[in-house]
Parts: sequence; C-alpha cells; structure tokens
Amino acid sequence: MCGIVAAVAERNIVPLLIDGLRRLEYRGYDSAGIAFIDEANQLQRIRSAGKVQALADRIDSERPGHLGLAHTRWATHGGPTEHNAHPHTASERLALVHNGIIENEQAIRKQLIEHGATFTSETDTEAIVHLIDHLLAQGQSMLDCLVEVQQQLQGSYAIAVLDQQHPDTIWGLRKGSPLVVGVGVGEHFLASDAAALVPLTQQMMYLQEGDIVAIRRDQAALYDQQGKPIERTIQRSNLDPESSERGHYRHFMLKEIHEQPAVISATLDGCLNGTRILPSLPAELLSQVRAIHILACGTSYHAGLTAKYWIESLAGIPVSVEVASEFRNRRPAVPEHTLMLAISQSGETADTLAALELASELNYLATIGLCNVPESALTRACDHALMTRAGLEVGVASTKAFTTQLTVLLLFTAALAQAQDKPKSRIAEVLDALGQVAQQTREVLALEDQIEALAYRLADKQHALFLGRGAEYPIALEGALKLKEVSYIHAEGYAAGELKHGPLALVDESLPVVVTASSNELLKKLESNLREVQARGGQLIVFADRAVTLDSNDDMHVMHLPLNHSIASPIVQVVPLQLLAYHVGVIRGTDVDQPRNLAKSVTVE
Ligand code: M6R
Repeated sequence: MCGIVAAVAERNIVPLLIDGLRRLEYRGYDSAGIAFIDEANQLQRIRSAGKVQALADRIDSERPGHLGLAHTRWATHGGPTEHNAHPHTASERLALVHNGIIENEQAIRKQLIEHGATFTSETDTEAIVHLIDHLLAQGQSMLDCLVEVQQQLQGSYAIAVLDQQHPDTIWGLRKGSPLVVGVGVGEHFLASDAAALVPLTQQMMYLQEGDIVAIRRDQAALYDQQGKPIERTIQRSNLDPESSERGHYRHFMLKEIHEQPAVISATLDGCLNGTRILPSLPAELLSQVRAIHILACGTSYHAGLTAKYWIESLAGIPVSVEVASEFRNRRPAVPEHTLMLAISQSGETADTLAALELASELNYLATIGLCNVPESALTRACDHALMTRAGLEVGVASTKAFTTQLTVLLLFTAALAQAQDKPKSRIAEVLDALGQVAQQTREVLALEDQIEALAYRLADKQHALFLGRGAEYPIALEGALKLKEVSYIHAEGYAAGELKHGPLALVDESLPVVVTASSNELLKKLESNLREVQARGGQLIVFADRAVTLDSNDDMHVMHLPLNHSIASPIVQVVPLQLLAYHVGVIRGTDVDQPRNLAKSVTVE
C-alpha cells in the first residue's frame, strides 16, 4: 500500500525520485521520505508527514545525489508522523524503505534491542534495517544478509536498501509485495509499480517471489532466495507515460471516468479474436464447469455480483460470490468441477491473494484471475489470466477498472454459454449489446452537467440510499460505495425488494434515494418500490433508460439516459452514479483522488 522508488544514475536522481513518488502517491499518501548519497558521500535523509509536495518543499535543489531511494507511506504500524516516515536508518550508513507488513516484528525488535539497537519509530520497517545492520556487523555481505532476512522475517514485504559504505549499489528484495527493476542506459531503477518508472524507461524486469536484486549504474544482478545468480527477462511496458498525468482534468477520477468508452473498446478488442471469445481460455475447460466461486473485494466484488446474474441466466451455471476476506478465513465446501474466479484490479490485494492460496489446497477445477495489471501476483498465481485493458487507474475510487471488469465478465459469460452449448442467438445478443456499450457510455458522459446539477441535492446530506433490482442491485451497491469513498456521506446500497424489510424506516424528506431503472421485467416491481419511498416523503433521483415511462415530479427527479435496455445495461448504468459521487465529493471539497484513510491497493490483511 506504500510506494517505493529507487535509482542509480550518473545524472542527479533526487528530482527523479520525487517525480516517481508523485506517480506512486496513489498507493499511500500520509507521509513521504527520501535518502540519498550526496556528492560528499554523505547519507542524506529528508522526511515529512503529509503529501509528497510537503517533502518536495523541504528538498535542497543545490544538493544532488546519484544513488538514492524514496517512499510514500500508508501507515500500518505507528501514526503518519515524520519519525515513522521511511526511509529508516541504522548506524548512519543504511537507509531502507519497505512496503508490506512484518508479522514477527515485535520478537525481532526485542532481540535487536537486547543486542544494543536503538529504535526511533513505531514501525515494523525499522526492525528490518536493524536486522540487516546486525547481520552486516557479523561480517556478512549484503547478499547473505538478504538471504538470511528472508528466513527470519514473517509477513509480506518489498524492500530497497542502500549502504553508504558501498555507494554504487541499491539492493531490493521481493517477498509478497511487488517490485520491478527499470533498465535504463547506464542507469537502473527500482519501484513498487512500473508507473513510477515509465517516463524513465519502458524496459522492465518484474521480480518474482524471493528474488533479490542489486542495481548499479551499468547492471542489475539478480539472485534467488538462496543467493544463487538468476536471470529474469526484460519486458517492454505498455503503460502510457501520460497515464499517471491528470492532463486537463481536475482529478484523476474524472479523467478515468471519461476514459471509459476508450478502455471498454480496448478491452473488447483484446478479448475477441475473430469469432473466438476469450481465446486464452480453453473451451474444453469451460465445457466441464459445473459451478463457479467468485472471490474479490470492494468494487471488484460488485463486478463479481453482477456476473452472477449474467452467468446463471445465460450459461445456467450456479455461481457464488464472496468477499475474499471472509472466504480466506473459513473452510469452504467446493463441489466437483467448480471453477474459481478471482477478480482484482491491482492483482495485489492481500485478501484476494490469500483466497487464491487457500484455493490451491481445495479441489477446484482451475483458477482464473481477472486483473488489470500484467505480471501482478494474481495473474501469476492463477492457472489462467483474463486481462482488462483499463490502463493505469490512479484514483483510489475505482471506475474504469469496474466497467472493464464487467465487460470481460459478460464476455466470459458468453464464452461459458458457448462452451455449454447454449443457444447461439443468446450469445450473439450479448456480443451485440457489448458492441454498443462504449458509444452509450460516451452519450451518458455527455450528460455530465446535468448530473453535476443533481449533485447539489446530495451535497449537504448525511445519508443516502441506493436501490436497484436484478443485475442493477450490485450497481446500487457500487454507487453507494463510490459516494461514501469520495464524499464521506454515509450511503447504503440495497436490493429494492429489501426496502420493506428494514431500510424503509430510514426514509423521510431528508433522505435522498438514488435508483437505476431499466425497462426490463422487473420495472413494475421497482415502480412499486419508488411509490413506497414517495409515500414516506423520500427524495428520489432516478436514472432511467429511454424506454422507462417515469416522469419527474415534486419528489422525484427522473433523468433519462440515452440507453436502450440490454443485458449490458449495468455497465452503462453505473456511469451516472460515478459522476454523481465525483461531483458530490468536489462540492463538499474532499480529496476525491486520495480520500482520507484509504489507499489504492490493499496489500495488507
Ligand atoms: O485491486 P482490487 O480490485 O483487488 O481492489 C479491491 C478493493 O480494494 C477496491 O475495489 C476498493 O474497494 C476501491 N477503493 C473501490 O473504489
């Protein structure tokens, strides 16, 4: 959940590291720090609570460095203060940054204190740097230390460490948290995320579990967890360097909402090969599937819930969808021929990865990962990977990742239906509906001004209710999640049919109720729910497709979307809810891209 960037170069690396931190800030943003060896071979460390800008303001541009590392933090152990910010140091020669959690930190800290170490922070990270210091003092090389560190530390971590006595090398280690090497010409970089490095180089080497790396100006030497030399292939990153720039948009969230037509089309293109749907999935595997378990967290979980409606109705296969944090801590029953589908934008979410680990002990037919990040832990851990092509998503509130996940999940439904010999006409219907989604999304985005005007109705509220029926029930959940994340208004998503079973008690003239309405077989039932809200004075905002014959009145505002109902409607229906949440957040003056207490990738349990 934190960001690491490190560099060894002939040019001054200090501005490169600060720029890298800005690109990684979405991963954690409560404090930041940098350490580098200056031209007098002195170890310099500057840290600051708050955002990267606060750190940048403290940097002396007159003091260059050619080797250094930097970090942006999301606090786990100890508050977001300057003394807890990374890098942490030992013996005035080592500086270390860390992403992840050390589970046995207390025991190691106690032992090291007994050996004379002095700790100055509450972080688990400081135990790592003192442990390396202790091992170096016993005469071990840095490589031997990092081999030993892996044996002693429990938990998940990626680290970068420098030693002022060897000012030509930065060492890195990956165990459970990602780390990538950027290969430049006469310079090398390390980062927790390729996004930090793409303006510097597109040539990347993704470290695998247990890998140790030593980067120097002219080479990157890799070792396995026993310290034996290994090689990893260099891959060209497809990340657009501008994807971590806001361009002319006020926020990344808005930029990413507007990118949806393009990334939905790109995702569709990537998943179709002539008449073959999802060619990377063997048809013989799909034909054997008798049940599906979907595991995910947050927005990705909502994508899974939507897929359940699609898969059961079209492919006739029973689907259960569960949040990974629950699944990982129980003993699930797995019927024969069950497929596990893990969904994660980042491919780094600790709970989803733990669910996959548990799956390897259970009797699954196969595991499939649906992910937005190539070479992520999720794609490597699954038997098969399905990729969205959303590009880098920087806004903490997920938007384009969700609609591209839905796009792939609807294609997955069609591929399953095809493999299970369901009528060809239904599959053609799905493909036709999907073909229209990008354009419909574009048309909904054109209504942004009207949606912004509606946002003022919610901006001064304490609570909001989101309702939907059928495959739009998960869209109501997602609309509520978006609103609470970026505006801090308490919002609940409910299946409209559940209204009478409790939430109706909340409805009065102060409660906005946001509804998506489609001209499907559930519309009459939904209209009854709307009347129940109106009878209690609730203030309705309804996003309806063009065939829904509802009109606005004193207590109901109906916005008709340029959308014909189809199986793909949920993908488009979520877009006005994203815009609504965004504009409510902006009106309330929240930090919509980096909401309080949150981070983009939740790499800890
Ligand atoms: O990277 P993942 O899809 O695994 O992330 C799962 C959730 O942490 C994520 O969707 C979170 O709920 C977002 N902030 C939602 O906007």
